[in-house]
Amino acid sequence: RPAPAVLGEGGLGTGAEREREVLHLCLFVEANLIREPLVVFVCATTGQGDPPDNMKNFWRFIFRKNLPSTSLCQMDFAVLGLGDSSYAKFNFVAKKLHRRLLQLGASALLPICLGDDQHELGPDATIDPWLGDLWEKVLELYPVPIDLPVIPHGVPLPSKFTLQFLPEAPNPSSKESCLAISDSLGPPSESQPFLAPMVTNQRVTGPSHFQDVRLIEFDITDSGISFAAGDVVLIQPSNSAAHIQQFCHVLGLDPSQCFVLQPREPDVPCPPGLPQPCSVWQLVSQYLDMASVPRRSFFELLACLSPHELEREKLLELSSAQGQEDLCEYCSRPRRTILEVLCDFPHTAGAIPPDYLLDLIPQIRPRAFSIASSLLVHPRRLQILVAVVQYRTRLKEPRRGLCSSWLASLDPKKGPVQVPLWVRPGGLAFPETPDTPVIMVGPGTGVAPFRAAVQERVAQGQTGNFLFFGCRWRDQDFYWGDEWQELEKRGCLTLVTAFSREQTYPCYLQGQKVYVQHRLRELGPLVWELLDHRGAYFYLAGNAKYMPTDVMEALMSIFQEEGGLSHPNAATYLARLQRTLRFQTETWA
Ligand SMILES: Cc1cc2nc3c(=O)[nH]c(=O)nc-3n(C[C@H](O)[C@H](O)[C@H](O)COP(=O)(O)OP(=O)(O)OC[C@H]3O[C@@H](n4cnc5c(N)ncnc54)[C@H](O)[C@@H]3O)c2cc1C
Ligand SMILES: NC(=O)c1ccc[n+]([C@@H]2O[C@H](COP(=O)([O-])OP(=O)(O)OC[C@H]3O[C@@H](n4cnc5c(N)ncnc54)[C@H](OP(=O)(O)O)[C@@H]3O)[C@@H](O)[C@H]2O)c1
Ligand SMILES: Cc1cc2nc3c(=O)[nH]c(=O)nc-3n(C[C@H](O)[C@H](O)[C@H](O)COP(=O)(O)O)c2cc1C
Repeated sequence: RPAPAVLGEGGLGTGAEREREVLHLCLFVEANLIREPLVVFVCATTGQGDPPDNMKNFWRFIFRKNLPSTSLCQMDFAVLGLGDSSYAKFNFVAKKLHRRLLQLGASALLPICLGDDQHELGPDATIDPWLGDLWEKVLELYPVPIDLPVIPHGVPLPSKFTLQFLPEAPNPSSKESCLAISDSLGPPSESQPFLAPMVTNQRVTGPSHFQDVRLIEFDITDSGISFAAGDVVLIQPSNSAAHIQQFCHVLGLDPSQCFVLQPREPDVPCPPGLPQPCSVWQLVSQYLDMASVPRRSFFELLACLSPHELEREKLLELSSAQGQEDLCEYCSRPRRTILEVLCDFPHTAGAIPPDYLLDLIPQIRPRAFSIASSLLVHPRRLQILVAVVQYRTRLKEPRRGLCSSWLASLDPKKGPVQVPLWVRPGGLAFPETPDTPVIMVGPGTGVAPFRAAVQERVAQGQTGNFLFFGCRWRDQDFYWGDEWQELEKRGCLTLVTAFSREQTYPCYLQGQKVYVQHRLRELGPLVWELLDHRGAYFYLAGNAKYMPTDVMEALMSIFQEEGGLSHPNAATYLARLQRTLRFQTETWA
């Protein structure tokens, strides 16, 4: 019997890679799925319980009403969900797919696996034991042929790529030279980002405020990039020069050396965007995510590669099932990075064969930012509002977010700065009719997409713009305060603010912080009138943790109090708004 098929679904993949995958999926599904004896589905959830873009064709196909209930009765399957329990619809896509496959007659080899980004050990916490069970079941059905030797534990698989070092650098270009861009047609994408000149990088929070937030502007002239309010820009960050040097030092790598990357298997593609030949500096700066917290598989492979007995023993312990509490204590809780772990295991780090670097260290992922400007007001420009992530754990060094800290460190006043980026549609789309009101709720940096929407709508003469904005203090983090007030004076905007740490609110909120949801409740009659009588659209953006649930609860109580609906009817009303895209959200963890 053939080897099991694995149907993988990345969450945010874009561009040519995604198109290829979609095409491949359509062919795969329509031509082969009904003949596959065993399929492992790996799927993320995006938006608010939505399938990722590269899964949408498959989703439409698998939910076609005319599929007979015996369509997949020859198939065994397993579903591995990649989700995040801070979202209301945790692993919604995986759960729904699991149910649908059962409906179509397929047999589940084992219960669904619900990976959770919020778990201290990451998705591994559930995936590791689940994989053990999966292999057990699979090997019962498809035993390893007796003439095939089993690779003993502790022996690494061959590396996915080989690095063939060149005797001298072919082109002595700058160390910082960025991702190669080809001159193909079509808008920039993950495989061909646009190197956008950064025009300004301005701190917009007060100098004494604890949170550093930047308004960053890029020049997108001649990029082929176009966008509308609600779209998102993806930015490919790099590691800092200090970290690159430290990494090369610990691993004994010469950053100026060049190599050609070659996959061992003929059908494995090289990572998109890595130039060929490539310098060690480029590989380390643009590709290897040494600032991420390592997963258990990192320790497993590192142990296999370690020539040092004591270090190997410790690495093995950290990668074992019993060592998971220690791993949590050592890495996950204090958010220790791959680079820091490598420094803690110097004998092992110094002996890592370069061929294994891409197996050991994950690729730096692009980060999404809501576009905060409109081309109608800032032609040839793209602006974003970035909260610089910095926090403390028990480790001496503060933890810093890779992309936001990298962006904050770039200073276009000191010389030209270019940032690899591309744009994709976001989760928010605004009505085109001129007088449909929009209620936008965006505390903190959640206001970014609404700045673009307000600019776009005002430029197009669209009325009925209601913005609920929340921050701590009006003189510290009131983003675009002057702009909003100016638009209010012109009658283009109704602004409602919630300054959570200013105590100037009614006594019924005594001792309680004032958030956007309190202001929504206060203005319940207006909110109900806009939604129920004037067909308003409702938007919500920002931190995924508690705010979305709190705002949805506020809406539910408005539907009950102002609309006189029962709780179940209020829930149905909200669900209908969601279904008809009159309630849309863009939230991030
Ligand atoms: C659709 C979308 C739109 C977005 N729009 C914006 C936007 O407009 N503006 C914006 O600033 N961001 C936005 N984000 C978030 C942005 O993509 C990045 O996640 C954010 O900038 C952090 O990236 P980083 O590389 O700096 O941090 P990373 O290196 O990725 O580190 C972030 C991680 O650090 C951990 N962490 C952060 N704070 C703490 C803490 N206090 N304690 C413990 N762990 C912590 C969390 O695990 C978090 O996931 C958006 C995200 C999405 C998906
Ligand atoms: N560690 C965390 O849990 C945490 C939480 C939020 C943001 N952050 C980080 O802070 C940075 C900026 O975040 P941000 O722009 O999203 O927002 P933010 O600046 O942190 O917060 C914006 C406003 O939202 C308020 N708020 C807090 N909880 C809320 C809730 N449940 N409902 C409604 N409003 C609420 C805040 O009030 P108060 O702060 O006065 O409560 C503040 O006034 C990001 O880097 C983010 O990662 C971290
Ligand atoms: C914009 C966004 C929306 C998400 N929505 C959900 C959700 O509704 N439910 C859930 O369980 N996980 C949600 N997640 C978490 C992702 O499913 C999870 O992080 C997954 O591992 C992402 O896969 P990727 O890294 O291939 O994009 C969301 C993540 C993002 C960035």
